[in-house]
Amino acid sequence: MAETTLDLRQLPRAEAYVELTAHIESVLDGVTDPIAEMATISALVHHAFGWLWTGFYRMVEPDRLLRVGPYQGTLGCLEITVGRGVCGTAARERRTVVVEDVEQFPGHIACDARSRSEIVVPVFDASGAVIAVFDVDAEVPAAFGDADRMGLERILARFTRQR
Ligand code: SME
Repeated sequence: MAETTLDLRQLPRAEAYVELTAHIESVLDGVTDPIAEMATISALVHHAFGWLWTGFYRMVEPDRLLRVGPYQGTLGCLEITVGRGVCGTAARERRTVVVEDVEQFPGHIACDARSRSEIVVPVFDASGAVIAVFDVDAEVPAAFGDADRMGLERILARFTRQR
């Protein structure tokens, strides 16, 4: 059971995240390799909801540069300067950014022209440093709301644990 990819599109979003979080914690029980964790989280979140693009940008130069990490979907941009685009904004401001219409977000970086809405969640380590951001893109406008913000922040809280 633990080693399957769930499709949770039929469930109310908040309920889906309860199930998804438990599933991820079960699959990654005892795993403390951030790349393995990021790859697994990308795959499970992506397929749970059928998103367009789901994955991580890692902070490779503190407060300056994000570089693409594990992801699922079409080709992602390789590097994003902190402060630029939705990803760079979430990293700089250390907060989740939900964009209902990417065309209304100044400086939005279009890696895939089909993207219509987006959520980006900063990933913190135990010291409070931003080690990555988690970016999810959808082909429909306003795909993400509070349930996604809370659900994803909860999933990503595993990186704040002491390792
Ligand atoms: N749209 C993002 C860039 C990353 S891709 O969509 C995969 C941004 O504006 O930061």
